[in-house]
Amino acid sequence: MTFTLAEDSALLKPIEVGGTVAANRLFMAPLTRSRADADGTPSDLAAEYYSQRAQAGLIISEATAVCEQANGAYMNTPGIYTDRQQDKWAEIASAVHRAGGKMFVQLWHVGRMAHPDISGFETVGPSAVAAELLTHTPTGKKPLPVPRALTVAEIATIVGQFRSAARRAIDAGMDGVEIHSANGYLLHEFLSDVVNQRTDAYGGSPQNRARLAAEVVEAVVDEIGAERVGLRISPGNKAGDMRELDDSSAYEALLCRIKSLNIGYLHVVIEPSKPAFAAVRTVWEGPLILNTPRTVGTDFAVLENLASWGVISAAAIGRGFLANPDLVTRLQLGAALNEPDEATFYAPGPAGYIDYPTLDQSGVEALSGLAG
Ligand SMILES: Cc1cc2nc3c(=O)[nH]c(=O)nc-3n(C[C@H](O)[C@H](O)[C@H](O)COP(=O)(O)O)c2cc1C
Repeated sequence: MTFTLAEDSALLKPIEVGGTVAANRLFMAPLTRSRADADGTPSDLAAEYYSQRAQAGLIISEATAVCEQANGAYMNTPGIYTDRQQDKWAEIASAVHRAGGKMFVQLWHVGRMAHPDISGFETVGPSAVAAELLTHTPTGKKPLPVPRALTVAEIATIVGQFRSAARRAIDAGMDGVEIHSANGYLLHEFLSDVVNQRTDAYGGSPQNRARLAAEVVEAVVDEIGAERVGLRISPGNKAGDMRELDDSSAYEALLCRIKSLNIGYLHVVIEPSKPAFAAVRTVWEGPLILNTPRTVGTDFAVLENLASWGVISAAAIGRGFLANPDLVTRLQLGAALNEPDEATFYAPGPAGYIDYPTLDQSGVEALSGLAG
C-alpha cells in the first residue's frame, strides 16, 4: 500500500501539544512491546526504538504501570513507580528530544485483565466479572480469574498512584502523560455498564461509572498541569472482552465533567463512521486525536480529510510507525511501507523492534516503491 501526502497536507501541519510544538499531526499510537526488564524497567533498547521514531509529531509510549499491582496483563511490560524505572524513562526522553521528537508516557492499570502469575497480586476490578480470555503466563496460557471488587479506599489509592506516576514522568523529562481509559483496562472497565456492577458512587449512573476516570484526570491535571495531560478512550471497543450495552452515556458524562479543565487532548480509538464518534465530537470541543481500531485499519485519505475539515486535530498510527521508523518521510514521498511482523510484536530482543529499515537503509528496494 502506498499513499502520498500533499506538501500542504493538514496532517503535516505543526500543532501545539503539552505546551510544546509537535512538528506534524501524525502521532505514534501506544504500543506494548513486552521488552521491559522483569522489574518493569524499560530495556536498554527502548531509547533507540523510540528515538528512531522521533519524526512522529508526538510519540505516545507503550502502556506503563502506575504501581506494581497495576501490572499483570502481559509479561515484561514497563512501569513508572520506581527510581530505576524513572531513570530509564529519563534516558528515553532525552534520546527522543535529541532526535527532535516529543513524547508522552501512557499510564495504565490493567484491572481485571491481570493474572496473578504475572502480577504476583490478586486480580482486582470494578466488580466480580471476569474477562473471558486466556493470557500468556510464565507457565503457559491460563484463563483470567474472577476479579475482586475494589474498595472505595483502594480506588482512592489508585487515583493517587496515577498522580505519582505522572509526576515521575514529568520529572523524567517527558512532555506529558496519556491516561489509558481504553481497550478493556481498569478505567474502561469502570465506564462499562456490563463489567461495572457496583452500587456505590462508582457504579450505576453514567456519572458514577465515569467517576474514576474523571478523578484520575483531575488528580493528574492538578499534579502536572492540564496541557500535559491526554486521555485515551475507546467507546464500544471489545478489546479485553469488554462489553458495553451503552457506548455513549458514560463517555458523555466523563467528557462533560472534564471539558472545562482544557486538557492537552482527547485520544479516541474508534471507527469515525460510528455514532459514538459523533457523540464524542459533539461534546468535546478540545484537541482530538483519532486512531482507527486494528480491526478497521488505517486509511490515510480518510484521516487527511478529517484533519483538513478540522474534525480531528491529529491521527495516531500504531503498526505503521512500529514497522516504519520514517513513516512521515515515506508518506511524503509516496514510498512503499514496511509490513509489520506480528511474530515479533511481543517477542524479546532487537528483532522486529529496532531493525525495521528506513528508506535510506533499504536503498533501491524501497525506493522502487516510489514508482508504484
Ligand atoms: C503490538 C500492539 C501493542 C499495543 N499496545 C497498546 C498499548 O500499550 N496501549 C494502547 O492504548 N493501545 C495499544 N495497542 C493498540 C494501538 O494503540 C492501536 O489502537 C491499534 O494498533 C490500531 O491502530 P493501527 O491500525 O494504526 O495499528 C496496541 C496494538 C498493537 C498492535
